[in-house]
Amino acid sequence: MKKIAVVGTGYVGLVTGVALSEVGHEVTCIDIDEAKVARMQRGESPIYEPGLDDVMKRNIDAGRLHFTTNHNEGFTGKEVIYIAVGTPEREDGTADLQYVDQVAVDIASHVKQDVVVVTKSTVPVGTNDYILRTIKEHLTNGVAVSIVSNPEFLREGNAVYDAFNGDRIVVGADDKWAGDMIEEINKPFNIPVYRTDVRSAEMIKYASNAFLATKISFINEIANICEKLGANIEDVSAGMGMDGRIGHQFLRAGIGYGGSCFPKDTKALTQIASYVDHNFELLNSVIRVNNYQHHILPEKAKKVMDTLKGKRVALLGLAFKPNTDDMRESPAITMSEELLLAGAEVVGYDPIAMDNARKTMPEGVSYVGSVEEALTGADAAFLVTDWDEFKALDLSVFREKMAQPLVFDGRNCYGLDQAAEAGLDYYSIGRAPVV
Ligand code: UGA
Repeated sequence: MKKIAVVGTGYVGLVTGVALSEVGHEVTCIDIDEAKVARMQRGESPIYEPGLDDVMKRNIDAGRLHFTTNHNEGFTGKEVIYIAVGTPEREDGTADLQYVDQVAVDIASHVKQDVVVVTKSTVPVGTNDYILRTIKEHLTNGVAVSIVSNPEFLREGNAVYDAFNGDRIVVGADDKWAGDMIEEINKPFNIPVYRTDVRSAEMIKYASNAFLATKISFINEIANICEKLGANIEDVSAGMGMDGRIGHQFLRAGIGYGGSCFPKDTKALTQIASYVDHNFELLNSVIRVNNYQHHILPEKAKKVMDTLKGKRVALLGLAFKPNTDDMRESPAITMSEELLLAGAEVVGYDPIAMDNARKTMPEGVSYVGSVEEALTGADAAFLVTDWDEFKALDLSVFREKMAQPLVFDGRNCYGLDQAAEAGLDYYSIGRAPVV
């Protein structure tokens, strides 16, 4: 078992550190945020991620998982250092690498033994070479440093499950010894390891997210056509997915993808392509289709209701997807802006993401503590996030609480028969309206 440091305890870093400790490695997670480190030392996860607290506590108690703000302490005696700091998006869509740069300099000034640096952060192709050069330029002693690109494929809300049940672990190394070491570290996970060079590994991450985003925009376009032609997107998706070459996953039509990954990574990949004079036309369209899809519920509402002015609209779900409190690039934000602009009164409810929503949503949105409160007196309800709580609702609540039972469902949470039986005026994605 190895002694490992993980720099950055955002979503990727924390889950990586916790998972590595769970399979027996000794892991120290380093972060500059003192309050956050204090929380994690007590076994409290700073992010909402089902199951993470339990695994954290177990490994802290077993003495395998540590947290510190001190780089020197964190790096001492470590054979492997994972970089998992953020790579936020700049105005122009490129990835901001200032945090990665800082870690490279920190590593160079603190390591006292040979070390393999592993990049988990999603970084543009070529960045690992650059990180290695930066470390080597700042090294004050003669230790050997090698770099491995080991991109992350976890989904928020499913991260603990994914960490132990992923489809593959990609190990991109130009030095065989470094690749061998990272493959060895990952053996206990029993997940197939795919070995490649550093640049191909970096590209696998972007290409995978871009491909999944493409599937989503594709099915959303088909849904919009289905709606006009009287076909049913749920049946179309199911029928397409039965072809093993297509597969069922990521063919759920809706209000477009959000989150911290797809929007950022798709834009970054178009930028990466442009650096080598390639216009990634397909991906540009995927992004455009997605932006449009974020507006689709307010657009439908504008057509169905005479005016939105003075109307009370209940948003059920604010997070970009269920089982997370993450509001980044959530369609709820764009939607609220549009509704407010049209003069509507917007009331939001989310089972988990309320705190983050208050910080992220446009001013003017008000918040309530339950579905029932959100629906009370509402002229329209928008289903934004497909939380189980909403899927399991007794649909009579819409008739009982709302001024009129007008529902715009952005996630196809209910069957058309179910909506008809409940007496709803029901508009969903890629299916005939129930009126
Ligand atoms: C995504 C990838 O699925 C992970 O493999 C990857 O590691 C991660 O990005 C990342 O780069 O860190 P995540 O953003 O957590 O994970 O969430 P997904 O479950 O992939 O959903 C992304 C968005 O697509 C959500 O807004 C979701 O509602 C939407 N989506 C997903 C659809 O609209 N339809 C689908 O069929 C699937």
